[in-house]
Amino acid sequence: MRAAELIIKKRDGLTLSSDEIAWLIEHYTSGEVPDYQMAAWAMAVLFRGMDDRETTDLTLAMARSGDMLDLHDVAPLSVDKHSTGGVGDKTSLVLGPLVAAVGLSVAKMSGRGLGFSGGTLDKLEAIPGLRVDLSAAEFRRAVREVGLVISGQSANLAPADKQLYALRDVTGTVESIPLIAASVMSKKLASGADCIVLDVKAGRGAFMKTVADARELAQRMVAIGLRAGRHVSAVLTSMEQPLGYAIGNALEVKEAIATLHGRGPADFVELCLVLGTQLVLLAGKATTSEEARALLEDALDSGAAWRKFRAFVEHQGGDLRTIDDPALLPEATVVEPAFAQRDGYIRRIDALELGMVASELGGGRQRKGDVIDPSVGVVLEHKVGAFVVRGAPLATIHANHGEQVEQVRERVTAAFEIEPDPQPSPPLVYEIVGAERDGLRS
Ligand code: URA
Repeated sequence: MRAAELIIKKRDGLTLSSDEIAWLIEHYTSGEVPDYQMAAWAMAVLFRGMDDRETTDLTLAMARSGDMLDLHDVAPLSVDKHSTGGVGDKTSLVLGPLVAAVGLSVAKMSGRGLGFSGGTLDKLEAIPGLRVDLSAAEFRRAVREVGLVISGQSANLAPADKQLYALRDVTGTVESIPLIAASVMSKKLASGADCIVLDVKAGRGAFMKTVADARELAQRMVAIGLRAGRHVSAVLTSMEQPLGYAIGNALEVKEAIATLHGRGPADFVELCLVLGTQLVLLAGKATTSEEARALLEDALDSGAAWRKFRAFVEHQGGDLRTIDDPALLPEATVVEPAFAQRDGYIRRIDALELGMVASELGGGRQRKGDVIDPSVGVVLEHKVGAFVVRGAPLATIHANHGEQVEQVRERVTAAFEIEPDPQPSPPLVYEIVGAERDGLRS
C-alpha cells in the first residue's frame, strides 16, 4: 500500500477499506508515513467525510495504537462520561459520585483545561493533596475499592490520536466531524468503560456552535460506540450560558459540594440527573427513565452521593477538611462585583467570554504547561431570564491582583445582554441521541 494512493482515493470521495485505514494509522505512528502525507489525508477527509464504518475503523486503529484498558477483573461493568467541554462544566465532580452511589463503577480518565474551557483535573487539584496522576494499578484499585476514580489519561492512551490531533491543530483540519468523533471515541474506547454517556454541547460557549453540528457529532460518536460493542448514548445540551453559577476551579468545586448537599443550581442538578439517567439505563440498573431518575434523586437526597465523593477524595489523597469546610479551599484575595448598566431582563450570558476572563485571571492556560491559580474566576449572580436593576451586581470577579479586576470588569458586564422585555430561559437539554439501552432510539 502507498500513502499517496490512499490520499487520492479519499480526495476523490471514495471509501477506504478497514485494512487501508489500519495500514495508514500503523505506518503514521511508526513514522513511515510522514506528517505532510497525513495532513493531506486529513484535509481530504475534512472535505470528503467518512462513513460510520470508516470512522469506526479509524477510531479502533487509534485506540489500539496504545494500551487498551480492560477493567473486567475489577468491575464487571464500568461507566464513563465524556463532555465536549463548556464553561462552568463541573459535571464529572457530581455525576461521578452520584452514579457510583447507585452502584455503578465509574472509571474516568479526564483532561486538563486549555483556553476558555476548564478541565476536570484542574478542578480536582483545587482540593489540596488530591492526586490525579494515578498509576494503572492505583486506577484499578480505586475502581475496585471505591467504585469511583477520576485520573489523568495514561501516557500511552491512544498515542496515534495524540499525534494526529497535534497535526490537525496546525493544519486546519480540526473541524471535521468524523475526525473529532474518532479522536474522542478512541480515548473513550481505550479507557475501558462498557457504558458511555456523551454530553455534546452546542452554543457559543461550546466546541460545536450549532445544534445541527452537535447532533451530527453525537450521532457519529454513538454509532462508533455501538459498532465497537459498547453501550453509548449522547445528550445534546445547551452552552448558551455558563452551567450553574461558578466558573473557576475552586469555585466550581465549592458549587459541586453544595450540589452534593442538595443545594445545587437547578440547571446543573438537572444535567447531572439527565446524564446519570442515561448511565443507569445503559448499565441496565433500571428499565425506565423514571425509575433511573428516582434512584439518582434518592442518592442525592440521602447523602449517599456526598459520602461517595468524600470516599473518592480520601482515596485519592485529598484533604477532607477542605471539602467538609469549603471555606478552607483556595480563595481569591480580591472579590469585586460587576454591575448592571441598565434595568431589564438578561437575554444572553456570553459563556465563551466569561470562560476567557476566568482563564486570563489565572484560572486557565494560554499554553500547555502554564501553572494555574485555583482560586480565581467569576461567579454569576443571575442566569438568563432574570430581571436586574441598574447598579445591581451581575457577577462577582475573584482575582488575586486588584488591577486585574479593573481590566476585566467591563468585559464581565458586557457579557450580560440585557433587554427591556421578559426573556425566556434557554433550553438545557435539546435531545437524546442513541439508546435507552442498545442504540434503539435514534
Ligand atoms: N477533542 C478531542 O479530543 N479531539 C478532537 O478532535 C476535538 C476535540
